[in-house]
Amino acid sequence: MASLTLAHISDLHIGPLPVPGLRALLGKRITGFLSWRLKRAAVHRREVLETLAADLAAQRPDHIAVTGDLVNIALGGEFVQARDFLRQLGTGSHVTVVPGNHDAYVAMPWAESTGLWRDYMTGRHAGEGEAERPPRDAEDFPFVRRLGDVALVGVSTAIPTAPFVAAGALGARQLTRLGEVLDALGRERLFRVVLIHHPPFAGGAYKRKSLRDAGAFAEVIRRHGAELVLHGHMHVSSLGRLASPAGPVPVFGVPSASAVAKNHKDPSRYHLYRIRQEANGAWRFSASVRELAADGRGYAPAGEMTFAPDPAAGAGLEPQCA
Ligand SMILES: [Fe+2]
Repeated sequence: MASLTLAHISDLHIGPLPVPGLRALLGKRITGFLSWRLKRAAVHRREVLETLAADLAAQRPDHIAVTGDLVNIALGGEFVQARDFLRQLGTGSHVTVVPGNHDAYVAMPWAESTGLWRDYMTGRHAGEGEAERPPRDAEDFPFVRRLGDVALVGVSTAIPTAPFVAAGALGARQLTRLGEVLDALGRERLFRVVLIHHPPFAGGAYKRKSLRDAGAFAEVIRRHGAELVLHGHMHVSSLGRLASPAGPVPVFGVPSASAVAKNHKDPSRYHLYRIRQEANGAWRFSASVRELAADGRGYAPAGEMTFAPDPAAGAGLEPQCA
């Protein structure tokens, strides 16, 4: 019987910011830099991330999924800082990353930005068989990672946008490839986990922050299926669902991993998904939440949900209790 514990963190917004040169602040970055100084630096704290990393290590998950926004205004030094924090969490075989809108805050050369995290995005690509490689550029998604009978499918919604816009998009090519890989993995009867930064359903975020092709993504899931979808971006806990051929697919959002215990939307939390396959082949999983304590000194359990196949809705996973 296969089983796997997958941890999910998001929106690290790693600080403090390296001191930017004046040239680097030209354009959109100046608004983000001021927002960091005036507001976000007090919310997204490095010491919270250190506490989270220690708690996560103690929980010993089999794998860690990071759904984007590791940096803030896409300075070169931020990507290096983020790579170093990823190394603190584990090697590329233990941690998987997809980028978020802040990781594409302004257009940057791939090799000097998100490409620095290539070890954490190395996987199979549509139509290329079992060979694994990192994405070649910001559009070379999705990638697929096999963890036994669980498959992680990493997509990118990270696109540079105008000031004050935090929207994302997958694009037609990525959506087509996503359908292909979900089909192939579904034929192998794997537990398919899609990692995406933006909430991938209509109404998941208001327009300025939304996934522009959320409807097309939902259609891909409706046609090709998935077992679980994980996202970040909104800095709050959420549980939605998308339709699939086998019934409803749970869609989880986690708050920002670095958020202080007070004065933000939700405090820092992370999720642990325990996925297991029963002797008859049916998948079950439970989701447990760990939350930063009010004094900021550690994490404690903050809720648990169990999911099991719901015969009334096909084979889709439905919460049994909340
Ligand atoms: Fe975001």
